[in-house]
Parts: sequence; C-alpha cells; structure tokens
Amino acid sequence: MPYRISRRTFGQLAGSLVTAAALPFRMFAAPSVSRATATGDRRFPAGFLWGSATASYQVEGAVNEDGRGKTVWDTFSHTAGKTHNGDTGDVSTDSYHRYAEDIALMKDLGLKTCRFSVAWSRIFPDGAGQPNPKGIDHYRKFCQALRAAGIEPWCTLYHWDLPQALEDKGGWQNRETAKLFADYAGYTAGKLADVCSHFMTMNEISTFVELGYGNGIHAPGLKLSRGKLAQVRHHAVLAHGLAVQAIRAAAPHVKVGSAENLTAVVPVFDSPEHVAAAKKATVEENAGYLTVMRTGRYTDQYLQTLGADAPEFTQEEMKAIGSPLDFQGLNIYTATYARAVKNAKGYDIVGNPASYPHMESPWLTVGPDALYWAPRLANECWDLKEIYITENGCSSADVVAGDGHIYDTDRVMYLRNYLTHLQRATSEGVPVKGYFLWSLLDNFEWADGYDKRFGITYVDFKTQKRTPKLSSEFYRNLIARNSL
Ligand code: FCB
Repeated sequence: MPYRISRRTFGQLAGSLVTAAALPFRMFAAPSVSRATATGDRRFPAGFLWGSATASYQVEGAVNEDGRGKTVWDTFSHTAGKTHNGDTGDVSTDSYHRYAEDIALMKDLGLKTCRFSVAWSRIFPDGAGQPNPKGIDHYRKFCQALRAAGIEPWCTLYHWDLPQALEDKGGWQNRETAKLFADYAGYTAGKLADVCSHFMTMNEISTFVELGYGNGIHAPGLKLSRGKLAQVRHHAVLAHGLAVQAIRAAAPHVKVGSAENLTAVVPVFDSPEHVAAAKKATVEENAGYLTVMRTGRYTDQYLQTLGADAPEFTQEEMKAIGSPLDFQGLNIYTATYARAVKNAKGYDIVGNPASYPHMESPWLTVGPDALYWAPRLANECWDLKEIYITENGCSSADVVAGDGHIYDTDRVMYLRNYLTHLQRATSEGVPVKGYFLWSLLDNFEWADGYDKRFGITYVDFKTQKRTPKLSSEFYRNLIARNSL
C-alpha cells in the first residue's frame, strides 16, 4: 500500500534537515563482549520484563460509548479516501468490551506486563473542562483486571487520538494544546496511580507530527510549511515535558518515561569510524525529538538548518522539554544505515536499494541489528540508564491454514532475528530492561486499515474470534525460558 511506504521515509527527510554538529553528548567506553555471549548463552537478564503493546484507537472500538468525545482519527478515518478501504476504528477488536478475553490471552503467553493507551477524549471528551468519570472507571477496571492476572499495566497517555475539539482550535499548531495535554496527563496519572506504576507521556511524537502535519497521510491530514511544522514539533515535545512535570506533581511515586521511535541508526559495518559516524547521526537525525527531549536543547545544526523556520521557544520551555525521565521507551522497527564520510556532518545516511527485503508493509524493511545498535548508541549518547523496547514487531500476510492454524513463519523469523540482536545488547551491558511486542492482536493499522496484520493473535474481524498464531507459541516459549 502506498500509505505507509512514505511513513518512515518522511521521518528521515525531516531528520536530514540537520547536518553537522557540535555534539553535546557524552562519550562512553564501548562495552566489552561478555563471556556469556562468547560461550553461546542466549539468556536475557533475570527479571527481564516481557510484554505486549496496543493503543486505544487501534483496539477499543466503542467510539460512541460512555461519553467518549470524537478524536482526529474518527474524523480522518470517516473521510473518504484517507484509509485503506475506508476502514475505521469504530469496532476494531472491540477490546473496550472484550478486554477480559484479551487479558486471558496475555496470561496464557506468560506476559509480565501490558502496554496500553488511554484515549484522552474518554477522560475529557472535549480535551479540557469537565472530566468524564466513566472514562477513568473504564481504565481503572482494566488495570485492576490486569493486576488480578499478575500483569503489570504500563500506560501511554497519548497514542495519536487528539480530541477533535482541540484540533478545531488549531490542534498541535496551538501552544495551548501542550498545556491542556499536561493537565489531562496529570489528572489521569493521579487517578490511576494506585493501579498503574509506569506512565509514558506520548507515543512516537515524530510519527504523528511528520505524518499528521507534514505529509498528511495520518490524522488530521495537514501538509504544513516547514516553519509551521517545526513549531508543531516544538509544541509536541513541550507537551511531553509539561506532562512529565504534571505527572510528577500529581503522582510522585509513579515512574515516568516516553515511547519514541528514534531514527535507529546502524553503522554500515562494525568498524570504529562507522560506529562513530552512527553515533553522530543518532544525535542529529533525532534532533527535533529524542535529542531535544533528552538534553533540553536543540542542536546548533538543527537551528541553523531551519534558519528563519526555526521554532519560537523560551528557556523555560526548553527546561521543561528536558525534564529528567525514569526510563526511556524506544519503538524500533527498521534500521537506517550510516557511514563515515569526511563532510561537515561526519556521516552520511545511506539509502536502501530496491532489492532490500521488507515485511508485508513496504515501509517495514528488515534491519534486525537495529535492536542492538539503537539502544546501545542511544545509551552512549544520553546515558539512559533504563531502556525498554516499547514496540517491535511486524506485519505478515497471515492466512488461516486448512487445520485452522496460522503459520506466520516470517514473523517468527523476524522476531528471532531482532531478539538475537537485543540479547547481544543486554549481554554486553546495555541497560535494556524489557520488551513490548507490537502487537497482541491484529488491529486497526492507521491509514492501512485492516489490510496489515501485526498481531501474534489472529483476529477474524467478522466474528471477533481470536486465534493465537505460530508466533504466539514462539513468544510463549521465549518468555518461559527467558532465553532464545
Ligand atoms: C508504530 C505505532 C503503532 C503501530 C505500529 C505498527 O509506529 O506506534 O501504533 O502502528 O507502528
């Protein structure tokens, strides 16, 4: 499908707004290969947190129930031509009603944790004003049911479903949205703090900004100028920072982080000069997102490249954006290759040839070593201390075989390869503490609708029947042994 092929390419274009840099990151010695790897031990660290991830608009359905307000994704998916087949999240996997069944699947897998997101418009139907008590009630019951099954809930406060009432007032173009997000985040974390210990402010700021306001293939479908887009980007990272402060004030004991899909830079090969180049690229290719969120400053190159299009900001805002976090979530699907060159930047991003392999979604190129290099380099750049892979997984052209099973051998291949590289990272001391597989269930895949299946559980969308795929069995075994 044409929709998502541009999904990542656009992010890269945005990233390459930035060129050379005075690099503000700290240098750390490269970790040494541990004996465990040398002797072929493929275990993950004791206590490694295995989980799965979903998001409100992608699984809940029940869009008109219990006082939920409309979101930009309701509007977008109901606009002709915006999603594959005109698909919407009106019903999806109906998880608003069927979450007990979903939790039983998680329990069967042996999951230790579940990442879900709260729909802002269930809590504040118009984005602000009077809260809707039924919204909090729903998520409280969901968290309680998870805990009763021995599964720790991890909550994302924003997975792209902006209340439509706020979009009508300018959405992320309006600085006020950042403040209203912080109010909602603080309120919700305060109400759920006794049943949920970990909160992520936002999911993939770079995706909803670049695709929603840059190339328009996601809601709200706008194509802003470079300067306006840079300001949206600033408002979104500001919203994250203000939310961190609001959550800490409302719920001092919870752990706070974010889930960002950094451009996961991989050196073209593992030699000192290419590794050094990949590290520089990690900072500069993520300058408008993770870099500013981790450092509280825009790199010189980022600002110089934008020139007159650079965002307006105050020092107080920058301080909020760089608010310290308890953990960093990284969503990693693909690799972006960098090589060392003698130019002003000190690196070059290398594009892939047409023959480069990809999964069912054309954008989802296969780059398993991203799960080694991205956490390692991000940690070397920003001393992250506690990292979680908050999303990784793939689409597959799943079919139900004659015996009723779904043999998604390509997904098993993908997971085995990616997790091999993650295990290398943990065995070398990169502080990755957990992994959330995207996704528990096939679900509404944004502009691709129901055309792309990412679940390890097959969903028949006509009957809502859930059938674990071969990849579920793979994941269950992996979790039980804590080892590949
Ligand atoms: C990520 C999104 C998630 C899902 C997966 C496939 O970028 O965060 O909602 O669409 O991609």
